[in-house]
Formats: sequence, structure tokens, C-alpha cells
Amino acid sequence: MKIIQSPEEMRAWSDEQRRRNRTIGFVPTMGALHEGHLSLVRAAVNGNDAGVASIFVNPTQFAPTEDFDQYPRPFEDDLAKLGAEKVEVVYAPDAAGMYPDAFSTYVLVEKVSQGLCAGSRPHFFRGVATVVAKLFNAVKPHRAYFGQKDAQQCAVIKRMTRDLDMGVEIVEMPIVREPDGLAMSSRNQYLTEEDRRKALCLSRALFLAEEMLKNGERNAQVIISAVRNAMRDVTIDYVALVDAETMAPLETVTRPATLAVAALLPTARLIDNIKFDPGARKM
Ligand code: PAJ
Repeated sequence: MKIIQSPEEMRAWSDEQRRRNRTIGFVPTMGALHEGHLSLVRAAVNGNDAGVASIFVNPTQFAPTEDFDQYPRPFEDDLAKLGAEKVEVVYAPDAAGMYPDAFSTYVLVEKVSQGLCAGSRPHFFRGVATVVAKLFNAVKPHRAYFGQKDAQQCAVIKRMTRDLDMGVEIVEMPIVREPDGLAMSSRNQYLTEEDRRKALCLSRALFLAEEMLKNGERNAQVIISAVRNAMRDVTIDYVALVDAETMAPLETVTRPATLAVAALLPTARLIDNIKFDPGARKM
């Protein structure tokens, strides 16, 4: 497994693969890898001739009050996990190389970047879209893999890729959960025992709402109220029922929808979601 640090070297490697007609599958990450990340890595390795993963804790998507300094960086462990999955290249640029002093260009994806997580993290998606565009320019992947865990992030990246003609196929992968239902996240390790227990109400609330949807409930307010009630033991950041592609709020679930929640626990902000397609046939 090769570790590449500069965009120039990364691009040279990718150009060489493309010359040899090899397809490149790419998984961008901030490291602290868990099974959620690794499910994406396996899909990238199995679905392409070469798998590439990046590890970069991106400063432009953190607000000054957030956990950039504290964010876990177990680099050697991450490399071992990626090596075991047969990744060919780990792209690990440094902040100075990614954002030199004169850096002044940002990617702003309108509409779909608004609401939900933007409420408490107003600059987050600008940072994400910018870094993913830069990573795509260096790695030049044919396909890139993102987790449904960050549903709004996925929608933003799909929009950006289409709008800017990037020619990268975005593959959205299901949420990997702990056995008790908690969505895996690098930030779960911040949780105290008590917060870890409380955190379970996010997935429980979503599963309850999923049952309501499966039983025919289509009124967004009714579903949102039930979710809020099931999350009454935590501080809710938002509960939103939105169009799965545009992230615009829905009053009635008449098309593919995402029900997304965020909660502020004392030790971490957590997000989770489910998708529901009212047109999908029952199995
Ligand atoms: P990070 O939080 O490290 O996540 C990297 C990828 O793993 C994202 O696509 C995320 O949705 C996915 N992921 C995280 N937890 C998951 C889970 N439980 N199941 C399935 N997939 C999961 O998201 C980022 O990094 C950054 O914003 C990034 C895109 C790398 C840009 O900096």
C-alpha cells in the first residue's frame, strides 16, 4: 500500500492507472476508521480495479468552537485497517499543502446545503464541498463512495458532482450500526456511559417512525411529533422530514424521503436518519 501526500503525486498515480484503463474507486474520510468507513472501502475495492482512501481532517468544515483539535487521529491504526482491505493508495495530504496561505476558492452548493445540519453548522457544507472537489481533482476517481449516515452531505456531493460536470459516479452506502442500533461514528468515542445510553433514542425514534411510515402514515407533522416525543430525554438540534434529493421539507410523504435527526448530547453532537420510498413495493 502506497501513502501519497501531495496532490501532484496523487494525480500522477491516477493518470497512470487511467492510462492503463484501470478504474479507481475512492473513499474520502477523516480517519478514526470504524466498520462504517470500512464498508465503503470494501465496496470501492471490490467494485473497481483500484481502491483509494483519503485521510484528512479538513479544517474548513469545522467552526472555531468545534472539535478540530480534539478529533481522533489514530493514523497508524487506520493504515493497518486500510492495508487489510487491500487499498492500493492512502492519500493523506497535509493542511498546508491543501490550504496554502493565499487559498481563496470555495465551492458553494446552494439550496441542498441549507436547513438540517446547516442550522447549527452554517459553514460546514462549504468546507465539505470544497475539500471533496479538491480530493476529486487529485484522486480522479471513476466512482466515489459516501455513507447515508451523512445524508445531507451525500445530497450536496451528488448535486456538486452533477452541477460541475465532475464525471464521478457517487455511490451512497447504507448506514452501519452497532448491534443495539446506534449509528457508528468516529465521535461516538467521545460519549460517556450515560450519553451512550441516551444516544440510543435517536435510532429508536427513527425505527418507530419507520414503522409508522410502513403502516401508511404520510403526514410529516404527525411523524415529526412522534420522533420528538421519543427523543425527549436529549436536546434536539432538529427533526426533519425532507425530499431525499433536494433536502426540501415535505408536508406529506409522497416521494422518496429522508427523516433526519440531530441531537446535542453533552459530549457530542450526533446525527442519524432513515430513508423511505412510498412508491417502493412491499417485499
Ligand atoms: P468521515 O466522518 O470520516 O466519514 C467518511 C465517510 O464515511 C462518509 O461518507 C460518511 O458518511 C461515512 N460513514 C460514517 N459513518 C458511517 C456509518 N455508520 N455507516 C456508513 N457510512 C458511514 O464525512 C466525512 O468524513 C467528511 O465530511 C469528508 C467527506 C471526508 C470530507 O472531509
